[in-house]
Amino acid sequence: TRPLKVALLGCGVVGSEVARIMTTHADDLAQRIGAPVELTGVAVRRPSKVREGIDPALVTTDATALVKRGDIDVVVEVIGGIEPARSLITTAFEHGASVVSANKALLAQDGAALHAAAGEHGRDLYYEAAVAGAIPLIRPLRESLAGDKVNRVLGIVNGTTNFILDKMDSTGAGYQEALDEATALGYAEADPTADVEGFDAAAKAAILAGIAFHTRVRLDDVHREGMTEVTAADFRSAKGMGCTIKLLAICERARDGASVTARVHPAMIPLSHPLASVRGAYNAVFVESDAAGQLMFYGPGAGGSPTASAVLGDLVAVCRNKLNGTTGPGESAYAALPVSPMGDV
Ligand code: NDP
Ligand code: HSE
Repeated sequence: TRPLKVALLGCGVVGSEVARIMTTHADDLAQRIGAPVELTGVAVRRPSKVREGIDPALVTTDATALVKRGDIDVVVEVIGGIEPARSLITTAFEHGASVVSANKALLAQDGAALHAAAGEHGRDLYYEAAVAGAIPLIRPLRESLAGDKVNRVLGIVNGTTNFILDKMDSTGAGYQEALDEATALGYAEADPTADVEGFDAAAKAAILAGIAFHTRVRLDDVHREGMTEVTAADFRSAKGMGCTIKLLAICERARDGASVTARVHPAMIPLSHPLASVRGAYNAVFVESDAAGQLMFYGPGAGGSPTASAVLGDLVAVCRNKLNGTTGPGESAYAALPVSPMGDV
């Protein structure tokens, strides 16, 4: 079988781990997919930067030329941000490639248009890594729970802010010191304002709500409060009440089923609640549905290696689809439910 050609757009915290795992697990991946996967090009901004394990001959600054080659089977987009990521993804679809992305900001803003472009060209668009790092959440919501009715998705979906709040609470660390550590560990976004002001969690809430409730939810539909105003005094008050403080994303179907709500804000959590014991950059998400009841998804929510695990899972799925001449489930936004930031709850 011919090798499947993969173009990697971005080789930073996540992309470098994707490349490393593609190399170190090459034989296993080939077995699981049914064909070898070949890293065919790596697009970056700074070509002279030394990148361990990457053949310099593969490195280019011309991401557009790479996705236009016409022989690429899968483009892995881990650049981040809106442009040039959006244009590169649509160009990839036009030139024969399916796409795996970790880009929640882009998907929360333009997910519907990107799904439409993928569908128009008969390609896949997978993005398990965009929400909650390594934790399988999108595929369980989209596939495993497809026969159930999800009513609520609630939890911690940003590793950086959980890391900061945990440090402030458990060690008394200052906000900036904890943020600097989260950035050094590769958890934070290129602009950490996205994390601390709640934009990243709101993007994830929009993606989750859209999939869970089969409707379209965009970043702007989500009520958003960050955690920059949480102080040591707030933690002391919370502790006095047997609580801690977490940044939560809450997506709910209204009681009458006619609308959905999505919001992100800091919340007091009783110490006895499982979310209170989510430490560091871990995430935890509860999904409540009619038939299953309550499910909890828990694990590493940020960082290069955990995120690469989710990207590689998507890569395997997309490569298998390609070999089978099929595509995955795609978007199922058939319910045009109105979305309000806070709703009636
Ligand atoms: P980084 O900033 O570490 O890496 C970004 C990469 O993109 C770098 O290699 C950079 O090149 C390259 N790049 C930037 N602009 C361009 C461009 N115009 N053309 C070509 N290459 C470009 O980001 P992360 O790896 O942390 O994040 C990547 C994506 O994954 C984002 O969408 C992020 O939201 C998402 N994500 C990140 C997680 C994490 O824990 N870090 C977890 C889940 C998702 P150079 O190396 O030369 O600077
Ligand atoms: N900056 C994000 C976070 C990366 O801290 O959760 C994972 O999506």
